[in-house]
Amino acid sequence: MRKNALSGPVPDPEAFFAEAAGLTDPQFMRLAGAGSTERKLLKFLRKQLKPQRVRHSLGVMLTAVKMAENDGEPLVSRVRLAGLLHDCGKSAADALGHGPAGERIAREELGITDEAVLSAIRWHTTGRAGMSREELIIYVADYIEPFRKDLPVLAMARRLAFTDPEGAAGLIARSTAAHIRESGKTMDPHTLEAAQYYSAAEGEKA
Ligand SMILES: [Fe+2]
Ligand SMILES: [Fe+2]
Repeated sequence: MRKNALSGPVPDPEAFFAEAAGLTDPQFMRLAGAGSTERKLLKFLRKQLKPQRVRHSLGVMLTAVKMAENDGEPLVSRVRLAGLLHDCGKSAADALGHGPAGERIAREELGITDEAVLSAIRWHTTGRAGMSREELIIYVADYIEPFRKDLPVLAMARRLAFTDPEGAAGLIARSTAAHIRESGKTMDPHTLEAAQYYSAAEGEKA
């Protein structure tokens, strides 16, 4: 039997992301365990977002489900929903505001009531210090999903994500903060706080 990097736990992140990048949309849905709720929401997303953004959302959903797999329910269902919806505010706000806009749309237009899902949508762009498990997984999955290319620290973040998600979050937050500083864009203070918080956590472990 051919070895399949997509089923079961992720022993080899490189193989997992390479194979996942070749999946069709229905395959993403099936492998993430999506049901009728997610299928309805996917229809909504297709009306709101560009096809590439929908693919990205499917990539984040599957990556998040894989990261949550060992913890079981209810985490898996929550990150499945949050991963799929995390960018639902993308066409309603600017880069920094689309997390909070997405939270509002999910709550008011899509009827999502689970606060753990809503806050994961809200914080996915900037991260923050002391993220919940759901927030942390969506923050990391957004950066490392299979269609991402040429991001700094991508390979390292993918390697860390399944064994040390806090370490991956620290790496991503530091890299994002450095990039924002270099490019002169507006820095959200939560990004800096996340970088400091998850770097300090690393120091404690060592
Ligand atoms: Fe986003
Ligand atoms: Fe995203």
